[in-house]
Amino acid sequence: MAGSVSRTVVKARVAALAAFRGDLLIIGVYQDLKRLPRQLTDLDKAVGGRLAELLKLGDFEGKQLQLTAVYGGGKIKRVMLAGLGEKKDLTAETIRRVAGAAVRRAGELKAGAIGFSLPLALPGKIDAELASQAITEGLIVGRYSFDEYISDDDAKSAGKMPVSLLADDEGTVSKLRKGIKIGTILAEGQNRSRAIANQPGNSVNPQALAAEARRLARKFGLSCTVFDDRKLAQMKMGGILAVGGGSASKPRLIVLRYKGKRSAGIDVVVVGKAITFDSGGINLKPSGALDGMKFDKSGGCAILGIMTALAELRLTINVVGVIPAAENMVSQTSYRPDDIVRTYSGKTVEIQNTDAEGRIILSDALAYAAEMKPAAIIDMATLTGACVIALGNHKSGLFANNDDLRKKIESAAQASGEAVWHLPSSDEYLEQMKSKVADFRNVGGREGGSCTAAAFLHQFVGEVPHAHIDIAGTADSKEAKPYRAVGSTGTPVRLVLEYLRSL
Ligand code: BES
Ligand code: ZN
Ligand code: ZN
Repeated sequence: MAGSVSRTVVKARVAALAAFRGDLLIIGVYQDLKRLPRQLTDLDKAVGGRLAELLKLGDFEGKQLQLTAVYGGGKIKRVMLAGLGEKKDLTAETIRRVAGAAVRRAGELKAGAIGFSLPLALPGKIDAELASQAITEGLIVGRYSFDEYISDDDAKSAGKMPVSLLADDEGTVSKLRKGIKIGTILAEGQNRSRAIANQPGNSVNPQALAAEARRLARKFGLSCTVFDDRKLAQMKMGGILAVGGGSASKPRLIVLRYKGKRSAGIDVVVVGKAITFDSGGINLKPSGALDGMKFDKSGGCAILGIMTALAELRLTINVVGVIPAAENMVSQTSYRPDDIVRTYSGKTVEIQNTDAEGRIILSDALAYAAEMKPAAIIDMATLTGACVIALGNHKSGLFANNDDLRKKIESAAQASGEAVWHLPSSDEYLEQMKSKVADFRNVGGREGGSCTAAAFLHQFVGEVPHAHIDIAGTADSKEAKPYRAVGSTGTPVRLVLEYLRSL
């Protein structure tokens, strides 16, 4: 199913820029350079002075993501200058985006072997290892696109692309290799998640997702348990069963385990919403709101990316991944408005809107996670349209019942470039969810729709520190970015992995 996701192989080696032999040499350049930097003089000679010419004419200003190719004529076929923006503003995220944009352009040029020379460090800010991790992430995430159903080969991005990061000495190269190793694991984990999230509902239903989880678990050495609908009934997982009941494809609960240390205690449970298609159910979505609802499984797909990458990182922690998977459909067996659902925790929920289904399946999954008594639970879900209205597509909503956990996630967001914004989810929001006939209703009105949803989720974890990441606005993108293809973004795979790496 996942097709080929590793299309970019990144390596580091010692080489002078002028001695590069390959299809394309990409050079990162800061904004507003008056003259050619000293490190580029030999290269400039090798391409007949064309780089200096370009700068002199003012045709390349070095603005962030500006890309200009120069044709060498000699042994170096092409050199591409990639604008980094102003030096004082450089961050790991800028490096990621420039690398992604450059490699996407290289793909359009059908370039094969590529050499790369971005600033490999910025004293006091970014060291060589971090820089090469960021470059690698940008390259690998930038190159992925969902094209396995497109018949026309010319419309697809080409096959494998070897990329070499060039450095002056062996010392730097060995630092670069460390960053490349980590960046490759994180970015490939993210692409693995994207490759599944991009699949439409007629390819991935709850069973197919469970089969994919099993396949990945075998490949990466994780343990995997799948609970089918009969087992879910025995376990009294009333929430998942209610939401999944309207579909011919019955729901599943997928549990993946990574054991990185001897002791049995669980450090973190990560939980991801996997609605393989969200029609809204009996409260059917209007036509315009249905497209893109294959991405309602993005949280669950992120768990697959996180757990597989975690196995490759070999961190010395114990982590469990929990994916409640269901399809929210309309049929004679659908759950209805007014239904009262008894969730796994024993708490009852009056259904007011069958389209607020994410919190119902998550209530079972979170209560199940809390039973393991982990040090923290992090869930990720395309949960509310209200979050898209509040934050748009640039930042995910972050909610937490614990400040320490929240701060750690904010740092990981900073490190990964996958931005979050903290929003409130305190108990007063629960007032809006009161029911006259059950413990809660599943909606709390339009006001603060993301906050009421998050407050609802907190009710199912007991005292366990819990963070909820609402990725409704960030999980997928309708427009291609210079540095990333359309479709699933794979967020927050790298964010959560940075958090786990920081423990
Ligand atoms: N999957 C949607 C949330 C969503 C909306 C994700 C837009 C991505 C883009 C969720 O299940 C949903 O439909 N939520 C409702 C809740 C409402 C009925 C309280 C919403 O946000 O409208
Ligand atoms: Zn919904
Ligand atoms: Zn949904």
